Amino acid sequence: MDKLLIEGGIPLAGEIAISGAKNAALPLLCAALLTREPLTLTNVPDLHDIDTMLKLLVQMGVKVSREKVGAGGTASAAPAAMSGTASVTLDASGLDNPVAPYDLVKTMRAAVLVLGPLAARCGEARVSLPGGCAIGARPVDQHIRGLQAMGAEITVEQGYVHARTTAAGGKLKGARLFTDMVTVTGTENLMMAACLADGESVIENAAREPEVVDLANCLIAMGARISGAGTDVIRIQGVDRLSGTTHRIMPDRIETGTYLCAAAATGGAVRLTNTSSSYLDVVIDKLMDAGCEISLERATINLKAPPRLKAVSIRTAPYPAFPTDMQAQFMAINTVADGTAIMRETIFENRFMHAVELIRLGADIKIDGNTAFVTGVGKLDGATVMATDLRASASLVIAGLAAQGETIVDRIYHLDRGYEQMETKLAALGARVRRVK
Ligand code: EPZ
Repeated sequence: MDKLLIEGGIPLAGEIAISGAKNAALPLLCAALLTREPLTLTNVPDLHDIDTMLKLLVQMGVKVSREKVGAGGTASAAPAAMSGTASVTLDASGLDNPVAPYDLVKTMRAAVLVLGPLAARCGEARVSLPGGCAIGARPVDQHIRGLQAMGAEITVEQGYVHARTTAAGGKLKGARLFTDMVTVTGTENLMMAACLADGESVIENAAREPEVVDLANCLIAMGARISGAGTDVIRIQGVDRLSGTTHRIMPDRIETGTYLCAAAATGGAVRLTNTSSSYLDVVIDKLMDAGCEISLERATINLKAPPRLKAVSIRTAPYPAFPTDMQAQFMAINTVADGTAIMRETIFENRFMHAVELIRLGADIKIDGNTAFVTGVGKLDGATVMATDLRASASLVIAGLAAQGETIVDRIYHLDRGYEQMETKLAALGARVRRVK
């Protein structure tokens, strides 16, 4: 199991490029299932979760070709700090096995995103229930309920969701869909299924995340008729078929926020390129409340940290509020900030596992239900800590970068799922970090 060795106490400085967004890429890969024509995605991040999703699609009969295109547009292995844009072309004309097996789904719950496209394209799907994960039970009842409303007959047996479209001609039918809570992949699954349904669908209480909008933009380029993406009511007029297209994946706002927090926690000054600030308003506001100077250019964000951060309270909620995927990273910066921060996690029931590991580094954190009280300390001391989930791992890396002495972060396969070559990018910012087996 790989570990990350971090020599802390060094302010980050320099420039790195941000990669394509994992949480946009995953549903976009599944969108290929909706058409018999090739779908090409560019700015694809090189992540373990992307590899898993591609493996899942290939075993369904999808043809996949990947090309690592250097930043200069030549097909070469671009240096990681340049985050060369990789492109992937998917051809689902030979789709012949609408099954997502447990061994792949259990390692990446986003695999549930094939359910809607398969039901819409093939008239049937067998998708393993994702099961829970470290941060919560994470059921998919809203995905199932929405497909049932569209006429799919769904049974759940032996840990698999089995969907069949019983309506005449095996097509889903447009429906009014209301999700009990805001669900990002639930909205994405239903939006993709509705593209090929008979008639109009309306998704109410829809997720407004930028990744939902990126997916909608790609589907529209493929011929889908969608309006309202980015608002809480999305209207989809079903069409007979979709065509292929080429779509550039949006930049990863959570990776961007993670490196901004790493610079803030180490008193550094960094320049992040190939990104966008327009989806990070609340995170940028909070970093400015903490005392950081932030300037924005077209696709670049510059951050200069103060000598000591001020504690900043947050409350996570669906977009455009503070993203739950940035909560762990913000807890790390609050451990060394001046004052006490109150941090409320309202999305997942168990997303504070990084707290006990941060305490091992000397942090002062009290947990009460879904609220964490974090009182900044003068300094953290390096220690061995263990990653439990993707964003918790990022939180421990940030704390290790800020701590005095050496920190060893164990089980960093979690990091590899969602951060492209993190140690290479951090080293490009002057961090003393290396991966050991
Ligand atoms: C997406 O997960 C993201 N993953 C998560 O990012 C992110 O944390 C989450 O949205 C919230 O923003 C991808 O996009 C691949 P939800 P998702 O459905 O769609 C409950 C990361 O770190 N719920 O919006 O699975 C659920 O339990 C990952 O990159 C139901 O009860 O999250 C949760 O409490 C982690 N039933 C809440 O809703 C359902 O059918 C929001 O979950 C669906 C969801």
